[in-house]
Amino acid sequence: MKLRTTTMAFATAATLSLSALQAAAYEPGEWIVRAGATTVAPDESSSKVRLDGTVLSLDGGTSEVGVDNNTQIGLTVTYMLTSNWGVELLAATPFTHTVEGKGELGAVGDIADIDHLPPTLSAVYHFDLGNGFTPYVGAGLNYTLFFEEDLKSGADSVLSGLGLTGGDVELDNSFGIALQAGLDYEINDKWFVNASVRWIDIDTDAEIGFDNGSKLTVDVDIDPFVYSVMIGRRF
Ligand code: NI
Repeated sequence: MKLRTTTMAFATAATLSLSALQAAAYEPGEWIVRAGATTVAPDESSSKVRLDGTVLSLDGGTSEVGVDNNTQIGLTVTYMLTSNWGVELLAATPFTHTVEGKGELGAVGDIADIDHLPPTLSAVYHFDLGNGFTPYVGAGLNYTLFFEEDLKSGADSVLSGLGLTGGDVELDNSFGIALQAGLDYEINDKWFVNASVRWIDIDTDAEIGFDNGSKLTVDVDIDPFVYSVMIGRRF
């Protein structure tokens, strides 16, 4: 009777501690949803701007473009395949960035506003530290869809003054790798807070076509760092 009670006590304790451990880790079949603020901070570099294939030279051929930061609502949904491996989709409300002139195009200032959506599918490995912290690393593929490109009125009047009227901006969509690292910290057994950073390889060819058939073109490696601070929940 004594032995049996002790055995049962051990079994109960083991079950309790095992379930406590399991509460800290994610479980196979679980959905992890996170939502919060996501900032796309381009670490861009561009080619020289070309007019009909020839480097534009107003003042030594130093024309380049830059891209500013933008913050939107980010959403990630992860399906756990095991307690460590998950498949994660990153979605967001559309980002809007302003493209500005650099070098000899600096005087033009803002050239265009571009809108994009950068859905990213990643394989993510979660480390269960058992103390409420769950760091993770991931790698995946990004598709960036540029769906709205508007020439700014200031740039339009500068270009019109050069005989380049009716400027129409277009950016090629981008397909590339995405790397990430992040950290979940549990508030309770359902909710947690999260911070993450990603690097996404986003490269595009931008073109402004004009009424007279001329084209301004530039290759831009946007290659942003993407920072998120989110609240998460397990389902
Ligand atoms: Ni790149």
